[in-house]
Amino acid sequence: MTFRRARRRHYAMTAPTFFAVEYAINPWMDMSASVDTHSALNQWETLRQTYKELGHTVETIEPVAGLPDMVYAANGGLLVGGKAVVAKFAYPQRDGESAAYAEWMTRHGYQPVETRHTNEGQGDLLVVGSILLAGHGFRTDRRAHDEIASIVGMPVVSLELVDPRFYHLDTALTVLDDSTVAYYPPAFSDASRAILRDLFPDAIEVADADADVLGLNAVSDGLNVVLPAAATGYADQLRRAGFRPIGVDLSELLKGGGSIKCCTLEVHP
Ligand code: ARG
Repeated sequence: MTFRRARRRHYAMTAPTFFAVEYAINPWMDMSASVDTHSALNQWETLRQTYKELGHTVETIEPVAGLPDMVYAANGGLLVGGKAVVAKFAYPQRDGESAAYAEWMTRHGYQPVETRHTNEGQGDLLVVGSILLAGHGFRTDRRAHDEIASIVGMPVVSLELVDPRFYHLDTALTVLDDSTVAYYPPAFSDASRAILRDLFPDAIEVADADADVLGLNAVSDGLNVVLPAAATGYADQLRRAGFRPIGVDLSELLKGGGSIKCCTLEVHP
């Protein structure tokens, strides 16, 4: 079995203080379903504690009233190698988050750069070692990929998403370490599947049942993989591959179409 090693990570998270499902911009959002904000806060706090117990640094970003999706901090931007790209959202309902995330970046010594085209941060932009995987098809504009490649100075591999339930790259693919990923093949176009097979011959391919609970929306430190608790088949696959799966229940936040990774903005060194 491959030896896996954890690396200490730096995360930023925004509490679901103002979380609600007030509009529907992805197929998971059902405005008639009731949301229990108290339980969302408890689940989110459990996730935060899980990261802290694993030894990671977790910073918190001040939530803003009237921005119910701000809890999905991954979408705020991309932070890597001292560079920061701030999100430009596809839907006007989330517009206000850009300023909030840009302000947080500035306060932390970054100079957030805006893109001309839509980009939804780490929802669609995932760092794997020295390359950047970038999703398009639903949210991030394919043309933003080139803008981002030149801002952060990293080669970008564009991947096309084809299933509206997996509208962000981080709903269909987990970065497990600097050279390993897991993904749900049906979420990608044939051409993008071929690219993934080529780049990651050892990838874990996840089944429908796990993808359907947003199991791939997970966060790995190279050894410990924090994933939605309901994704038990995926957890078994991870264990067999030498990783240590840690299930966390974020069912309340799933009502907005997000889970573990969506709630976690990684500050890459
Ligand atoms: N309701 C949010 C939206 O549709 C959920 C975002 C989930 N975030 C993510 N990184 N996939 O925009």
